[in-house]
Amino acid sequence: MTSQPQRPAFGTLLTSHMAVAHYRNGWSKSEIQPVGPIEISPAAHMLHYSSTCFEGFKAFRRADGSVHVFRMDRHIQRLQQSTRQLVLPEPDPAQVADMVRAVIQRCRDAVPEAPGALYLRPIIFGTTANIGAATTPTTEAMMIVLASPVWDYFAGGAKPLRILVDDQNTRSAGHMGVVKTGGNYAAALAPIMNARTKYQADQVLFCPGGQVQETGAANFILIREGELLTRSLDSTFLHGVTRDSLLTLARDMGYTVSERKFDVLEMLDWVRSGEAALSGTAAVLTGVGTLIYNGKEHPVADGQMGPITRKLRAQLIAVQQGDAPDRHGWLERV
Ligand code: COI
Repeated sequence: MTSQPQRPAFGTLLTSHMAVAHYRNGWSKSEIQPVGPIEISPAAHMLHYSSTCFEGFKAFRRADGSVHVFRMDRHIQRLQQSTRQLVLPEPDPAQVADMVRAVIQRCRDAVPEAPGALYLRPIIFGTTANIGAATTPTTEAMMIVLASPVWDYFAGGAKPLRILVDDQNTRSAGHMGVVKTGGNYAAALAPIMNARTKYQADQVLFCPGGQVQETGAANFILIREGELLTRSLDSTFLHGVTRDSLLTLARDMGYTVSERKFDVLEMLDWVRSGEAALSGTAAVLTGVGTLIYNGKEHPVADGQMGPITRKLRAQLIAVQQGDAPDRHGWLERV
């Protein structure tokens, strides 16, 4: 067996430089600067009232050395939507794209070869120093684009996941699921930690009212021969760009894609012979091996990553890395 090189855990390694812009009556010109501590007031709006949002997407290095960023426009649109929902200053999409390109250009050597990628993380947060501004928006803000060389998100690589099905908690307030904001991740953390301790689960699948929704940091898809099923878009969960990409590729490959609500019982019935997987920029498409519901373990088919999950994952990665045609114009060379 060949040994895997030691790779840093997802998100722990940053590139040397970041792009930074400030907002006060308008966005400043952005600058590239070394990654390091930033100065904000301890009274900053974001620290007290969570006016903060982020994005996550990847750039890929090809064998010929060229670097290509995946669906940057869609992620920037989602960032704009998050700022509107949080009443943060909305960024100009062209400026965000330029900041991303500038970071990639400055840190080109840090873009890993396949199967690694450069994870791009724009963040926008409120910096107005006013601890009384609980019900008024920030008037000042910062935007930073960080970048991180990444490999697998889940520590076990492509090992099938153990997922706790939770029909008691919600991941976020109903209208906030669609917003990519830190508070949603904070809200999911205690249920995830309980699931880890009690069931050695990797993640929690939130199913408020018995309706399957999403996990703490990824969307959820049921898969079987010729068919995919996932929850239809509404404000309660994040509209994953990876979800959209996988559904599009599946349709291209002739699969029927159903987007509708479905409940826990239908899911448990599906996984007797079908497959289940988590999708996201970080997760890509990672197979689920076991669902744990009401203290009982339900193996997903034979408990291994399913063959169709593997095929869809491979197809997405092939497009991202330029090994399959980019029919939908998802990649930009930087
Ligand atoms: C992503 O897949 O980009 C995410 O946002 C997950 C992340 C919180 C690591």
